Amino acid sequence: MTTNAADLTIPVIPLLADEKREERQAHLRKTAKESWLARTEIGYSVLTYESVMGILRDKRWHSAVGLISQMRGITDEEFLSNRRVSILSAEGEVHVRLRRLVAPAFSPRSADRLRPFMRDTVNGLVDAVASSGRAEVVRDICEPYPIPIICELLGAPKEDWKAFSEWATDVLRVFSDTVAQETKIIVKARNELNAYSRKLIEQRRNVPLDDLLTDLIQAEEAGDKLTTEELETMVEAIIVGGTDTTRNQLGLAIALFAQHPDQWELLRNDPSLAPRAVEEVMRFSGAVGGTVRVASEDIEYNGVLFPQGTLMSASMSSGNFDESIFTNSETFDITREPVGHPHMSFGAGIHYCLGAALARAELQESFNVLAARMPKLALDGEVTFKPTGVGIFGPAELPIRFEPGH
Ligand code: HEM
Repeated sequence: MTTNAADLTIPVIPLLADEKREERQAHLRKTAKESWLARTEIGYSVLTYESVMGILRDKRWHSAVGLISQMRGITDEEFLSNRRVSILSAEGEVHVRLRRLVAPAFSPRSADRLRPFMRDTVNGLVDAVASSGRAEVVRDICEPYPIPIICELLGAPKEDWKAFSEWATDVLRVFSDTVAQETKIIVKARNELNAYSRKLIEQRRNVPLDDLLTDLIQAEEAGDKLTTEELETMVEAIIVGGTDTTRNQLGLAIALFAQHPDQWELLRNDPSLAPRAVEEVMRFSGAVGGTVRVASEDIEYNGVLFPQGTLMSASMSSGNFDESIFTNSETFDITREPVGHPHMSFGAGIHYCLGAALARAELQESFNVLAARMPKLALDGEVTFKPTGVGIFGPAELPIRFEPGH
């Protein structure tokens, strides 16, 4: 028998409440033990591993990225007309085509090309704080880490890092609570970034190099290629998807290790644990705890009917603690044996993180450099976190101390 979702008696959870992270997580996990589904102020939320997978792998549930403007009440015509369909928001055939063309350029092998550069970048950042034995991790390590890597990936020279970083900050305002007041800044940054990308694309068309942009330009499937406009949009998607996520994930990792010195010591003594450590950090404390989908038609799932237009939040962060999948899920253990089921912090289904191999490499390399150079890592004050919500989560300020001179 099918029941309309509106008629169900199910727990209600606040999606946008001003709860502390731990309280919120505890609340979600407790609710997940009672019910796979909860009601939220914008729709519903799936909470268990199986149901989160079920929604994310079902192509009838579409990405809600394209609805941000509507949900935030944006009316700025220039902003609305300046938007383009990107891989993050595309669905159906449009998404399949884009993904097929770009996916080979994001392989683990392509990410591996950048590992030495990643190590150099983190080492450069640690050099500035190593002798003092103190750092504010967000400002000193996490904020500056991803931009040089994205620039190196694309083949943008060092003198352009600063401009790139500013465009990234402004383009990412699209996820802020105050986006409606910041549309002019976003449009300006988008236009400048697109003009810059266009120039870089032109250069690579003339002189191909060993970088991602050249790979994307040359990517071809049965005679089909990306247009210049699609290439520009892809660069923006890489910035949107690949900078703040990595920053916050690294910050969450260091906060977690500072609170689990035994795990830091394990990693320091055995760098080969880095890949497992990254997976466990992302399971235990993922920077993207949830994502939102919209029903493109009436959808029946698990005996429940969700009418077309229903908004559904997929709570990866509670799925990652599903005891039927991860035993002793409340224990942070970087030696945890990989099980058949991976954590969900890179999402699942057709929108599964395109940059997962790159993000894994960035985190693994930074973990090993930091573990080697920051022995006896400990908190040096209170960690403050960004507000919890449906966006990207991480520390706002993270003061640490460690043994100096390494
Ligand atoms: C630790 C860092 C990262 C985390 C936690 C993360 C997380 C995610 C998640 C959860 C999704 C799926 C969103 C959804 O289903 O609505 C996603 C998609 C995506 N990510 Fe990442 N990401 C990370 C790093 C990166 C990097 C480094 C890049 C780029 C180089 C990147 C590019 C993308 C793109 C383009 C998509 C959209 C894919 C598609 O729709 O087909 N991400 N990411």
